[in-house]
Amino acid sequence: MRFLRSRSLGVASSALDLLNIGRRSVVTSCRAVVLPRFGGPEVLELRPNVDVPDLKPNEVLVRARAVSINPLDTRVRALLALSFLLRFRFCLASEKLWEKEIVRVGNGKLTSTQMRSGYGRSIFEPLLPLILGRDISGEVAAIGASVRTLNVGQEVFGALHPTAARGTYVDYAILSEDELTPKPVSITHVEASAIPFAALTAWRALKSTARITEGKLLPYLLSCYVVGFLNLVACFYPAAVIKNGLLQRLLVVGGGGAVGFAAIQLAVAAECNVTTTCGSQSVARALAAGAEQAVDYTAEDVELAIKGKFDAVLDTIGVPETERVGVNFLKRGGHYMTLQGEAASLTDNYGLAIGLPLATALLMKKQFQYRYSHGIEYSWTYMRDDSEGLDVIRRLSKAGKLKIPVEKTFPITQVREAHEAKDKKHIPGKVVLELD
Ligand SMILES: NC(=O)c1ccc[n+]([C@@H]2O[C@H](COP(=O)([O-])OP(=O)(O)OC[C@H]3O[C@@H](n4cnc5c(N)ncnc54)[C@H](OP(=O)(O)O)[C@@H]3O)[C@@H](O)[C@H]2O)c1
Repeated sequence: MRFLRSRSLGVASSALDLLNIGRRSVVTSCRAVVLPRFGGPEVLELRPNVDVPDLKPNEVLVRARAVSINPLDTRVRALLALSFLLRFRFCLASEKLWEKEIVRVGNGKLTSTQMRSGYGRSIFEPLLPLILGRDISGEVAAIGASVRTLNVGQEVFGALHPTAARGTYVDYAILSEDELTPKPVSITHVEASAIPFAALTAWRALKSTARITEGKLLPYLLSCYVVGFLNLVACFYPAAVIKNGLLQRLLVVGGGGAVGFAAIQLAVAAECNVTTTCGSQSVARALAAGAEQAVDYTAEDVELAIKGKFDAVLDTIGVPETERVGVNFLKRGGHYMTLQGEAASLTDNYGLAIGLPLATALLMKKQFQYRYSHGIEYSWTYMRDDSEGLDVIRRLSKAGKLKIPVEKTFPITQVREAHEAKDKKHIPGKVVLELD
């Protein structure tokens, strides 16, 4: 590999093909979980000898020790069924009919949120076979020529951006220097691998309404939260502005999930008052993390239970009901952010040429509608690389102030079982795949 300037870790494994050249060892192939076509967990194939590409100057080769499963992985894997349903959606007259239909067609195997928003067919279909996985924790095995902040042998964790085709379900993953940060010794690889993708998603959302630094929040004017063209549109129609003073009160809808729980912890660390909705099993955890109120959405009337109004709402669920509740709890000038933006699904179904303007029109319609009806700002928010955010995440993780509980681990050889458990909702929390 021409771009390696340091020797890599000489990790011996029968599944690995290592060429030793003097002091330099070059990994040319390794095990990888490959997705050759979209479908159920059975389509995932653990292949023994998948090529490891050359490193670009800013890239780092990471010997993976643990990789976590995100909803994005199962959504991308199951894409074909979802895109059919999304096409079907536009033939249905109302949201109610749509909700009924996804329950009927999905037979309860996927959550309604998953069914609503198939992700990235237009991006991922041409890239098949591809490798799933965003999060990783492991050791630096080699670095590109311009990498300055990381060294071979160092323990690191981080996350790939949502559209990367070569994911982290591999023995050797490639991430850019900006996508990685040193792993604190106080947390294990399994714990570390559960954090970055979810926490960066939460960070981007919170940063789009308020600049978060440790201990204080300052007004933040321009958001950069939507990919490609939408990013420009969002900047020209800046929804992400809290104009008057500090963000003090945040409502997190779905604080029991990984992104929601990360948002609670990031906001609490920034001295924000946080209220959240979550399932009964997550209430104690949310309160222990510093939320001032945690409402059990399965047992309580959320609208009666939540107290006061908020400067911002982060809706990780993003269905019509949570959106309605969320916007009604905002102060005038407040900001509603949903993780379930429709840019990817619309471009999947109508192509870039039609889907992107459609998504732009839909976003603008909602923004104007909510400004007029509620006096609030509305936005779709997406995970993006953010080295500043990753640094905050590393420091909070090191201090024990940012954790994503891991419910269960599987060896990488049982990746199908792990995906099946997530699909069937047998395991409510985070699942991590371990690599030996
Ligand atoms: N836009 C982006 O870039 C981006 C990035 C990451 C994730 N996402 C999306 O964001 C969503 C959350 O991701 P995640 O990683 O946090 O998923 P997750 O860890 O699987 O969490 C989902 C949680 O949602 C909670 N929930 C379900 N219905 C709810 C409701 N009506 N009210 C309150 N909570 C409810 C459940 O919590 P309880 O256990 O407490 O019931 C569940 O554990 C997924 O749909 C994912 O695809 C988007």
